[in-house]
Amino acid sequence: MTPTGLASHSAAAASDLPVLAAGGVEPALAVDSLRRAYGDFDAVKEISFAIAPGEVFGLLGPNGAGKTTTISVLSTRLLPSGGTAMVFGHSIRDVAAVRGNIGLVPQELSIYPSLTAAENVRFFGQMYGVEAASLERRVDELLEMVGLQPRRDDRAGNFSGGMKRRLNLAVSLVHQPRLLLLDEPTVGVDPHSREHIFEIIRDLRRRGTAILYTTHYMEEAELLCDRLGVMDEGRIVAMGTLRELLTTMGCKETIAIRNAPSQEIATRFSNHPAVSDIDAGSDVCRLFVSDAKKLLGTLQQTLERHPNASLEISPMSLGDLFIHLTGKELRD
Ligand SMILES: Nc1ncnc2c1ncn2[C@@H]1O[C@H](COP(=O)(O)OP(=O)(O)O)[C@@H](O)[C@H]1O
Ligand SMILES: [Mg+2]
Repeated sequence: MTPTGLASHSAAAASDLPVLAAGGVEPALAVDSLRRAYGDFDAVKEISFAIAPGEVFGLLGPNGAGKTTTISVLSTRLLPSGGTAMVFGHSIRDVAAVRGNIGLVPQELSIYPSLTAAENVRFFGQMYGVEAASLERRVDELLEMVGLQPRRDDRAGNFSGGMKRRLNLAVSLVHQPRLLLLDEPTVGVDPHSREHIFEIIRDLRRRGTAILYTTHYMEEAELLCDRLGVMDEGRIVAMGTLRELLTTMGCKETIAIRNAPSQEIATRFSNHPAVSDIDAGSDVCRLFVSDAKKLLGTLQQTLERHPNASLEISPMSLGDLFIHLTGKELRD
């Protein structure tokens, strides 16, 4: 792939990243120039974003983007190499204060397979200092919420992937955290569990919980998240609501041209005023355009010259945006 004009778009998008959450509310989480290196390798490179109470913020990026490293630093499992992050006003270097305010569902599950569902929730409740008088009620409420009450006395090790993930979600909520960190919570999960997890997230949001949700699934980011940070190679390359992301690029539509020489087409359209970017791949040439109608004449000539060529005009999607920003496809 030979993306054209990507560097300038990415730089423009990254330079005006807001630090405060939308609406000027005191953020649940404020991340400022956060970095994390493994030896010489910078896995997370000066990222900044904030999440308001009652907001679902999605970090969308492919494998290796730095999502899990970010979550590990924010949950105090890893020290940052630079920058700061504050959870309800507490620095992530203040481990005890931060852990009391956050719930974490890590990518690699953290429940005990030899304990039953109820024992898992009870164990973590005791660890977080939930009062004994209210703990049993809390165990019941949470198992009810994640749909595991009928299986409360079965060992977690015998559960399906989706049930384990739901149990881990129950465990992460035992101390009623105000910020929930979910790292790819639907990977390896059946559709029923996935829907159930989405419902729980929406319910928590209604009750004011702030949620950081990482995913490499565009559909989930579109469905669930109030705002998104698009992450690639350790950086947040664009941030905003889906609508903001799709409109600030100055293009509303994409035209995919197949069965025609991509480079020749790229050259032909490169100076057209309605074309803001071109991605000339080997099987498809994609034009990012402000208004496809303005290109109909030139497209007609192209089709006459290449009778086998096919055209597909679509509204800008998150997938197109990702290609536009990074020159890469975000594969599921
Ligand atoms: N413990 C580690 N040591 C060295 N490199 C690591 C380690 N963990 C992750 N990485 C590297 O850091 C980058 C970001 O990884 P990660 O945060 O897991 O990304 P993601 O969750 O988006 O897939 C990747 O290139 C990965 O290989
Ligand atoms: Mg990960």
